[in-house]
Amino acid sequence: MSEYLTLLRPDDWHLHLRDGDVLRDVLPHTAERFARAVIMPNLKPAITTTALASEYRSRILAALPVGSDFQPLMTLYLTDHTPVTEIDRAHQSGFIVGCKLYPSGVTTHSDAGVTDIRKIDLVLERMSQLGLVLQVHGEVTDLNIDIFDREHYFIDTVLAPLVLRHPKLPVVFEHITSSAAVHFVTHTRTRVGATITPQHLLYNRNEIFKGGIRPHFYCLPILKTEKDRIGLLAAATSGNPRFFLGTDSAPHARHTKESACGCAGMYSAHASLELYLEAFENAGALEKFEGFASKFGPDFYSLPRNIDTLILQKKSWIAPASYIFGSDEIIPMHANQLLRWQIK
Ligand code: NCD
Ligand code: ZN
Ligand code: ZN
Repeated sequence: MSEYLTLLRPDDWHLHLRDGDVLRDVLPHTAERFARAVIMPNLKPAITTTALASEYRSRILAALPVGSDFQPLMTLYLTDHTPVTEIDRAHQSGFIVGCKLYPSGVTTHSDAGVTDIRKIDLVLERMSQLGLVLQVHGEVTDLNIDIFDREHYFIDTVLAPLVLRHPKLPVVFEHITSSAAVHFVTHTRTRVGATITPQHLLYNRNEIFKGGIRPHFYCLPILKTEKDRIGLLAAATSGNPRFFLGTDSAPHARHTKESACGCAGMYSAHASLELYLEAFENAGALEKFEGFASKFGPDFYSLPRNIDTLILQKKSWIAPASYIFGSDEIIPMHANQLLRWQIK
């Protein structure tokens, strides 16, 4: 007997699509599942202006499968020199939903990011006035700080003061990975939310070192302890609307990950909902999935919830070993492994 799960159509509140020919390789996976996605601006060169975001958005729309009505929600990449007038332009565009804070050097393509948060206080003030969301990669960049503690340090030294300095600014703490982050988001002021990825709900840091070093489990912030994973799962399945879905699906060509200095990022777009469902079902919380996937994100962003539905079926399939990625390939999450759910 088949089991079905009908959801209001979900959205992905944190997604990397990259640019150029590879858009056609990765975009169908997201467009099949989600109505909208927040598109990260960490391209080379970065999407730092409304004009660049507009052109990027057009390239995404042009790469969509025929008949798809998927909507990319665009973001601006903040730098030390982002002018306040650019925030006004972003707001007027109608298609930019937020601005992304990458502490300079923190992750993939973040070298143009902000070197000191105090340099952008006027920009943040204008965002508060206009209601634009600040999306934050929340880790300190000091390489002397233990990699497993960088998120916790960021909360104490940057994020907690920031949300008090800008009490009206909507802030999404992206891809949270620790119990410390869950605790912070649960107890801080209103209008602070967090996205959670499928990998941080399914795996702990042992996965990176199982029988050898496994580069396809390397992402930032890095996988944490089992205790952290359990804390994240409890938050995601709690029904607390501050926690919502953001896959952080981040495609990298295979050879750039299987390398002496491999890139950070895991690819989950091919099976994102299916992976989340594994985690929610393991936790006995399937009934909590619709809020997390389809309701709390649009509510946080003050956007309408979708009205159509998506049906998932409990029917096993095996995730492919790889997908084409331009002239290279990507190794997806759960490559060659069984997944219990599929989209109908
Ligand atoms: C992301 C990427 O590859 O763009 N990588 C990652 O490990 N999460 C960047 C990011 O979201 O930090
Ligand atoms: Zn990030
Ligand atoms: Zn990301």
